[in-house]
Amino acid sequence: MASNGKNTAPGLRAASEIDVDEITGHRRMRRTRVADWSRRLTRETRLSVDDLIWPIFIVPGSNVLEPIDAMPGVNRMSVDKAVEAAKMAADLGIPALATFPNVEMQHRDQTGSYALEPDNLINQTTRATKKAVPNIGVITDVALDPFTDHGHDGILRDGEIVNDETVRQIAAAAVHQADAGADIIAPSDMMDGRIGAIRRALDAAGHQNVAIMSYATKFASALYGPYREAIGTSGLLKGDKRTYYLDPANATEAVRDAGLDVEEGADMLMVKPGLAYLDICQALKDTYGLPVFAYQVSGEYSMIKAGAAAGYVDGERVMMEKLLAFKRAGCDGVLTYFAPEAARMLAKGGW
Ligand code: PBG
Repeated sequence: MASNGKNTAPGLRAASEIDVDEITGHRRMRRTRVADWSRRLTRETRLSVDDLIWPIFIVPGSNVLEPIDAMPGVNRMSVDKAVEAAKMAADLGIPALATFPNVEMQHRDQTGSYALEPDNLINQTTRATKKAVPNIGVITDVALDPFTDHGHDGILRDGEIVNDETVRQIAAAAVHQADAGADIIAPSDMMDGRIGAIRRALDAAGHQNVAIMSYATKFASALYGPYREAIGTSGLLKGDKRTYYLDPANATEAVRDAGLDVEEGADMLMVKPGLAYLDICQALKDTYGLPVFAYQVSGEYSMIKAGAAAGYVDGERVMMEKLLAFKRAGCDGVLTYFAPEAARMLAKGGW
């Protein structure tokens, strides 16, 4: 090693004579990256406030803003506070909200019967919001998990989440939600046949203009933990949801499952969780051409917040980068707890 001077080593001599133009054939990918104006000019996807759907958590009472430990910066809100939040969201230009209730234990039972109360917490929220802020879209989840005492999305009988009985109950709950003014019904339960059943029930009730956003591909994920704390189901849930949610290993099955929802009348498709399933987002967009939304779920949100709080990453930049990734993967929009924060960043510009 020491006997050869460093300029005489054959590899180093060869390196000093390399003609890079000969390798690239004069193609230089960096040419368009050289200045901000040209990076802007050649940017392929953009995130806009129009892409954001804001999920919010509702609790009974009034004037309640209750921080959720597992979701820094996110509060459970009483209906009056939710209406204020809806006004703020509308002012920011956020097109729609998705509402999730945390109801008292007395309203939770084996079959989730509170879902069938026309004036339950979720429907109260919709009525108050649509009255005060008619121009914001309200998306309601019809799964039974906020209303069951076992935390599952369906009716539990003899250790099984029974499909067809759950579907009938969900379809009835969807009609109440539409009666309350919901613009989009979003079933997150993964029962078979639910999209067709909800469509039939809505149409029979005169709700032809109420759309269905199917949680078409919902995976049995470890990323829902903070949400379950937010709606108070984490202590209740017995077992897991693998008998009805998709296996995270299965992409072909996910596309087939979404196809059934398309046939049954879904207007929009959702992929949930988001970032770990960008391949599914792209596949659904390419296969069906329907509007596709990703749900950046609670665990995804809280991991970014935790990383930023620890000083490991720049939280704002990570937030924007991950939201943009959904657009690049073909999504039309994102359900995200970051919606107000991202809307403010977008309004400031520079993204
Ligand atoms: C269940 C439901 C879940 C979420 C919304 N509705 C998943 C679950 O608890 O199994 C998760 C949302 C999130 O994690 O942000 N119907």
